[in-house]
Amino acid sequence: MRAPPWKIKVVEPIELRDREHRRRALAEAGYNTFLLRSEDVFVDLLTDSGTSALSQEQRAAMELGDEAYAGSRSFFRLEAAVHDVYGWRHVIPTHQGRGAEHLLSQVLVRPGLLVPSNLYFTTSREHVVLAGGTWVDVAVPEASDPESTAPFKGDIDLAALERVLTVAEPEGVAFVRQEACLNMAGGQPFSLDNLRAVRALTREHGVPFVLDATRISENAVFVKDREPGHAGRPLPEIIREIADQVDGAVFSSKKDHFVPIGGFVAVNDDELAERLKELVVVYEGFPHYGGIAGHDMEALAQGIRESADEAMVRHEVEQAAYLGGLLLDAGVPIVVPVGAHAVFLDAKRFLPHVPQAEFPAQALAAALYLEGGVRSMERGIVSGQHGDEPYDGLELVRLTIPRRVYTQEHLTYVAETVIAVHELREGLSGLRMTYEPAHLRFFQARFEPLTPMLEGSATTWRAAGRA
Ligand code: F0G
Repeated sequence: MRAPPWKIKVVEPIELRDREHRRRALAEAGYNTFLLRSEDVFVDLLTDSGTSALSQEQRAAMELGDEAYAGSRSFFRLEAAVHDVYGWRHVIPTHQGRGAEHLLSQVLVRPGLLVPSNLYFTTSREHVVLAGGTWVDVAVPEASDPESTAPFKGDIDLAALERVLTVAEPEGVAFVRQEACLNMAGGQPFSLDNLRAVRALTREHGVPFVLDATRISENAVFVKDREPGHAGRPLPEIIREIADQVDGAVFSSKKDHFVPIGGFVAVNDDELAERLKELVVVYEGFPHYGGIAGHDMEALAQGIRESADEAMVRHEVEQAAYLGGLLLDAGVPIVVPVGAHAVFLDAKRFLPHVPQAEFPAQALAAALYLEGGVRSMERGIVSGQHGDEPYDGLELVRLTIPRRVYTQEHLTYVAETVIAVHELREGLSGLRMTYEPAHLRFFQARFEPLTPMLEGSATTWRAAGRA
């Protein structure tokens, strides 16, 4: 693995609490890693969202934040960064990605309209559904196959999309959504060819095409590395070409743009921009700040420029590949190919004796915390099941790598923890849900183990060193 293109100037102490402390903390959190206190966590791989390290340039820019309610200088710097890197004409800042999804859904979705998309993201789908729309999965089948080594599992199934567009056309479809480095499939990219084909289909049927651009930079690296004809191109050029294919985009800037908070919706159409601006004042704030501070917009503008720096992006992708490689070598079942921002454990193969109704991924995430203080996130039936619909889809645990935060030693430690739990897997049972929230239940649901978790595992050789 290449050395990172940064060095560390400010550090945040972390501590591995002892096993009894972790056992208590886990029980108090209802076996849901979202409900742990971060001070009880040693290596925090819950999410790459808002957890990156700011650069010195971002911190310096924050000093220049213009906190004017309207006409803020910082807004115009943000707008210029979006124009320079992506080219979209109108930028409406929001407090984070879901703020952008909310505005877009309120403007484009009406009861009964369809939103075809590659798989789904939790908040993206929820906003469409709350606006009365229906989410339609048009991902390629490989997206739902953790063992398929297809290079572009973020592609849209063109035949499936065409069927939806033909049957509903054109007023039955609110917009088509394609997500870069498809999070729920394991951070899997789309190819430029596929994106162009979706562009052509949506144009033919007169339907808006919206990109979830949250992880566009990593997607561009995968295009460069895996798609014939792009190897020699500068990364900013590929990013720009991706952005050129769509009518607009939603962005959670808490990922690729290295900021703790912020996002935006960007569109080319003047009238659509006006309608979004009418709503942003209701839900987020004046269009020149959209729910974030002037200094946040400064950090974001600088972060957008850094997100097109190939050395920076490549290092993030290589960190995931490094962790994934250690796990594959040890025979741990993970989603392949390793994607953008995370390594995803395949809980169905990791714990084949635990039925999906007993939440194997949730149980595995809890066990990783208990074994090594490593926090991960369930991305299976708890996150994926929607209402009463049956769910037999992916059952994953995400080890998500914050950008510019952890070293190779941390990742090696994480691999050792996962491998220790893998060795103990036969003794691990599932969970029972004791509390289920009405919306996005994975955030706050509570569980109990069906049998005491990892009792006696402190005697294994790896655990012995840290118990
Ligand atoms: N779209 C994608 C692809 C995301 O991954 C996220 C957030 C959002 C939209 C929503 O953005 O959090 O800024 O409101 N993903 C985080 C994660 C939460 O952990 O994957 P947000």
